[in-house]
Amino acid sequence: MSLQVQPRLITLEGGEGAGKSTVLAALRDALEATGVEVVCTREPGGTPLAEQIRGLLLDPHHEPATPEAELLLVFAGRAQHVRETLLPALRRGAWVISDRFTDASYAYQGEGRGLDPAFIAELERRVVGIEPALTLLLDVPVAIGLQRARGRGAADRIEAEREDFFERVRAGYRARAQAQAHRFHVIDASQPADAVAAQAVARLRLLIEAQS
Ligand SMILES: Nc1ncnc2c1ncn2[C@@H]1O[C@H](COP(=O)(O)OP(=O)(O)O)[C@@H](O)[C@H]1O
Ligand SMILES: [Mg+2]
Repeated sequence: MSLQVQPRLITLEGGEGAGKSTVLAALRDALEATGVEVVCTREPGGTPLAEQIRGLLLDPHHEPATPEAELLLVFAGRAQHVRETLLPALRRGAWVISDRFTDASYAYQGEGRGLDPAFIAELERRVVGIEPALTLLLDVPVAIGLQRARGRGAADRIEAEREDFFERVRAGYRARAQAQAHRFHVIDASQPADAVAAQAVARLRLLIEAQS
């Protein structure tokens, strides 16, 4: 059984400081200018319970989650997010932009933590069941992204990881974008923010045209 493609679901992926939040705002503005309803959300998180799980995942004060515990916590939040936020919005015809979604698990828990992608795929099939029509991968060298993210203040649990972890995450994202080229669009996010946003909005317009 394959995943159900959601024509109005767009996801943003990329490492820390790649510019996801910045691009999300540009996409939201472009969509809202066309008069449609737009729901912006994020993972981990996106519902009150899932935001609590996000807090657990990112809190540097308790012992680190084992890779398996981290994966299952992420998917527990995602199960909630899909049913409580994504599907209701998509069913009433809204566009949804999510700052990270299942691809992040293949990159962070798969490549980053070394968990079996077949296990992640099984969770995706049983727990998620849907995939976006468009995924924008904001690809930036790790050092640049970390430098941008550190401008934001204290590091959370994930941000405090070692550089080789982020290199694996980046490589995982790029490999996934190649393997699923039909829905991924990779943007060189080392460019200035307005150039990155303009490319993201141009790709969004192609998606809108393809559907009208
Ligand atoms: N293309 C860019 N070039 C330079 N700085 C950027 C760019 N995109 C975002 N930034 C800045 O870098 C920081 C991290 O961006 P943000 O959008 O929060 O990244 P993310 O959500 O992917 O972690 C912010 O201060 C933002 O203003
Ligand atoms: Mg962000």
